[in-house]
Amino acid sequence: MHRERLGLPTLGVNIDHIATIRQARRTVEPDPIAGAVLAELGGADGITAHLREDRRHIQERDVRLLRQTVRTHLNLEMAATDEMVAIALDIKPDYVTLVPERREEVTTEGGLDIAGQIARIGEVVDKLQSADIPVSLFIDAEPAQIEASVKVQAKFIELHTGRYAEAKDEKSRKQELDVLAAGCEQAMKAGLRINAGHGLTYWNVYPVACLPGMEELNIGHTIISRAVLVGMERAVQEMKLAMRGKF
Ligand code: PXP
Repeated sequence: MHRERLGLPTLGVNIDHIATIRQARRTVEPDPIAGAVLAELGGADGITAHLREDRRHIQERDVRLLRQTVRTHLNLEMAATDEMVAIALDIKPDYVTLVPERREEVTTEGGLDIAGQIARIGEVVDKLQSADIPVSLFIDAEPAQIEASVKVQAKFIELHTGRYAEAKDEKSRKQELDVLAAGCEQAMKAGLRINAGHGLTYWNVYPVACLPGMEELNIGHTIISRAVLVGMERAVQEMKLAMRGKF
């Protein structure tokens, strides 16, 4: 699933926020499927989509179409609920990332507590991995959570980089990076494969990309934000053409 490592991690582009814009008008544009095709043309190594219980952005239709169109690999982010497990077993993404989910949150807040629900997560990991869908667990880089991830036999963890991304000064950023590095070391020793994501931007991604053992970074908001802006000039020029019947 993952390309052979050439020293730097691969990039999974999270396309949720293309769907966020679409759902703001409940219309058909912009289509996250088209976004995924263009992301792959731009060099994305994988496409990530989060099907939330409240369907606030990605819809089931999107995941089904992505399954048919994604040429790299499809990472389905989801909560560890029976509904989502059934959908994943049916659609068969290349891997699943289990994330915590609260209806009132703006985005995923904090990692999943594996240590506190070993039996439940173990059951979900087993169901998915028995169907040849590797599972990644989105966790904070805490020793107990990494140990618990080994216990439930997940293939991957995704280290939550939110605290690193939100650090207010260089000193605390360095501290958070050290926490992530220690997490990588512990995970590698235990035989877990390592992804990371959340809050990464063009300006803070490089030190995380250099962490030992890092396989894939899942990045969404900063890429979609930039895409909206770098595409603005052309979009306005094309509307002027359309107004003249020349589009
Ligand atoms: N990884 C996980 C598990 C996430 O929940 C998210 C947000 O949906 C991301 C990565 C991407 O985060 P961001 O949009 O901040 O790049």
